[in-house]
Amino acid sequence: MQTLHASADPAVLIQRVGALVEAGRCAAAGPLLAAARQLTGQSPELDLLAARIAEGQGQIDLARVQYDVAVDAAPDHAELRKQRSAFSHRVGDFDRAARDAAEAVTLNPDDPDAKALLGSALLSLGRVSDARICLAEASAAVPANPAMREALAVATEADGDPDAAFAILRAGLSRTGGALSLRNAAILFCIRHRQFAAGIALAEDGRMAGTVDACLFGLKGHAQTSLGQHEAAAESYAEALKLGPDDPYVRHLVAASGLLPSAKRAPPDYLRTVFDGYAARFDEHLIGLQYRIPGAIRRVLLQYIDAGNPNGPILDLGCGTGLVGVAVADLRIGSITGVDVSARMLAEAAAKGLYAALHEADVLDWLAEDHRAWNLILAGDMACYFGALDPLLTAVRQRLSPDGWFVFSVEAADGDSWSLQRQGRYGHAKTYLIDALRAAGLTVRTIQDQVIRLEAGAPVPGYLIVAQPAHPVH
Ligand SMILES: C[S@@+](CC[C@H](N)C(=O)[O-])C[C@H]1O[C@@H](n2cnc3c(N)ncnc32)[C@H](O)[C@@H]1O
Repeated sequence: MQTLHASADPAVLIQRVGALVEAGRCAAAGPLLAAARQLTGQSPELDLLAARIAEGQGQIDLARVQYDVAVDAAPDHAELRKQRSAFSHRVGDFDRAARDAAEAVTLNPDDPDAKALLGSALLSLGRVSDARICLAEASAAVPANPAMREALAVATEADGDPDAAFAILRAGLSRTGGALSLRNAAILFCIRHRQFAAGIALAEDGRMAGTVDACLFGLKGHAQTSLGQHEAAAESYAEALKLGPDDPYVRHLVAASGLLPSAKRAPPDYLRTVFDGYAARFDEHLIGLQYRIPGAIRRVLLQYIDAGNPNGPILDLGCGTGLVGVAVADLRIGSITGVDVSARMLAEAAAKGLYAALHEADVLDWLAEDHRAWNLILAGDMACYFGALDPLLTAVRQRLSPDGWFVFSVEAADGDSWSLQRQGRYGHAKTYLIDALRAAGLTVRTIQDQVIRLEAGAPVPGYLIVAQPAHPVH
């Protein structure tokens, strides 16, 4: 350290700290930053590096303090405002992200990065039209920037203009020479809008242009599966698996295609990818598919409520956009708490204003940590993301009050066990369900055949189950 002090050039030292932070080597950057501080004293630049090191090491509270120190020392420093805006966005403080980005735009009205940050923050705040304007200005200034294009497409779609959103992605592909992130966003867009052939064509263009990417092949396989092209899909999945053997999205779809042994549940990262991308269109899409589970849950509750049962508080596991909340809210049987792994699905649920609380978490993690007892636990079309049901049923049993009720749906499967189906959801055989409920200490009150929704025009068969703890205390 002594030698370093004697000979180090502070500017070189600071540059090295910056390079280490960029490379994600925050632990190595820390001591060099301390040395730089001794040589130069405080400076906004060093405060900013300290904040980024803290964030890189997962010390979010410390990082927040460091960003504040940096901005307080130089409130008119546009770069600091932008950095704190980006940090606030990453940690979910969208209001603050928007305020700092707006300040950065005021300080430098020609900076497209500041406008893009402001647009992204406004988008996260649900101000889609304002977001679209900011992102359009940013993207017009830097037409070959894929991230700005992608954000503009998201804002444009959220603003109710899907055709324009797709045109932005397509134009971006030619402007950027086929940027991979834009191509994958365009393919995902096609899948969400059920334009599977267009998605496959986009993936094929990418392959012909020499793109080798696990996600691209995984998406292509997904689109092919949706068109019933299972052999072609298997080839795409095999390619995806070679390129991204550890990618949870790819692994789950590959398992669903039968190329890998099935995992016992869909990985949370896969669920987040799928449902974050689906959230904005979920309600409209499911109505189009005649989704029946929220209505079926309502009917079964009415039947039991007539008999004096059950009463809240209600826990809605995998609440998604809140369709189950919509179906049961007027029954006035208690406040509803929702849990879901997808932040964007939760944002849609929050907008409905029916939930007393919403939590972003995997249901198993959340049930392990929340120790309240619930009189009514609902799970509409969520258990189909678990193969083996025992962890879910056991966790639910532990959180049900002694007279509580658990109402949930599953998709039906042949045989006497569970199986992972091609679309990435699990099906459950009736005998398996009954055994698993009994093993978890739950008694079946009713198990009804229930069409879940339509898929490719055909009904998806399933069951609606009402269960209670096996030995209620009276
Ligand atoms: C098909 S949607 C159903 C949403 C809602 N229950 C309904 O009936 O409209 C499934 C939802 O369950 C969520 N989900 C699936 N598995 C989950 C898990 N292990 N933890 C938290 N959320 C989960 C998904 O993110 C998604 O929002």
